[in-house]
Amino acid sequence: MDPKQTIYNLLNRADDVVSGETLSAELGVSRVSVWKHVQGLIKSGISIVSSPKGYRLTRDPDSLVPWAFDARQDRIHYFQETGSTMDEAMVMARKGCVDFTVVVAQRQTRGRGRMQRTWLSADGGLYFTVVVRPDIPMMLAGLVNLAAAVDMAKLLRSLYQVEACLKWPNDILVGNHKLCGLLSQMEAEGDQVAHMNIGVGLNVNNAPETEAPIATSLKALLGRPVPRREILVAFLNEFEKRMSTFDPHAVIDEWKSNNVTLGRTVRVITVKDVVEGTAVDVDAHGGLILELADGTSQTVMHGDCFHR
Ligand code: BTN
Repeated sequence: MDPKQTIYNLLNRADDVVSGETLSAELGVSRVSVWKHVQGLIKSGISIVSSPKGYRLTRDPDSLVPWAFDARQDRIHYFQETGSTMDEAMVMARKGCVDFTVVVAQRQTRGRGRMQRTWLSADGGLYFTVVVRPDIPMMLAGLVNLAAAVDMAKLLRSLYQVEACLKWPNDILVGNHKLCGLLSQMEAEGDQVAHMNIGVGLNVNNAPETEAPIATSLKALLGRPVPRREILVAFLNEFEKRMSTFDPHAVIDEWKSNNVTLGRTVRVITVKDVVEGTAVDVDAHGGLILELADGTSQTVMHGDCFHR
């Protein structure tokens, strides 16, 4: 086990000061070496107070370092700074990482959104990508995106009583303000999904700077900072439960009952064209069905949707 992880576990369990002597005996290393590992922990964002009596962990509910995730810690990969968690996750997925491997970053230097947009990712936001390996045909992959957004919106409603609603396909809005965006990448083996990487950017304590004209954050909505770890833990628990018994009908029903797109006049920009019409339904694969001005209908599977 990583000596830093052992030190974190010992301090966490003690919930009090642990002397340098005890730590060095437990690890079988010198006290200088304990001190160096503690400095490493502090550098990675763990709050540890040292005194002549030893070291004490200051519990920080906002910390996203792996050691703070108990049973999940082996599947959490934390970066103080990275280009994009999507890129890190893709490398891990291609190397065969396990289901529900998570890449989380304190900040991203090349965060990206849908349609090649930049996702500015300053300190304080929650930026992560989760790699899932659902045993489903490729044509149902769109529903996994909807499911992730449904689970995130539901937990934001229940933990913080915010009116989180879904804009097709998987933006989370409060009123007209964007609180969270999701982005996914998929690779297949034959007709089956090999892995899907679901990237989530949630404005928590950051000043949101998405390219969308109006965005908001949990801190702005609640008037107080919000610890990010409880959100990530709650999301992973819910989403993992969901994926273990994936029910396409339930996803569509739940998406519909929390959405603000159906019934609206919308413009959807896809990679190929722009479609305008009234959003009337979502199909069995998560595609948006539009009724066009000439009375015909068209289904779009991907794209950016703007409410008119
Ligand atoms: C969008 O609304 O356009 C989707 C935004 C997705 C942003 C997240 S932040 C974590 C992950 N890493 C990225 O580079 N993008 C996603």
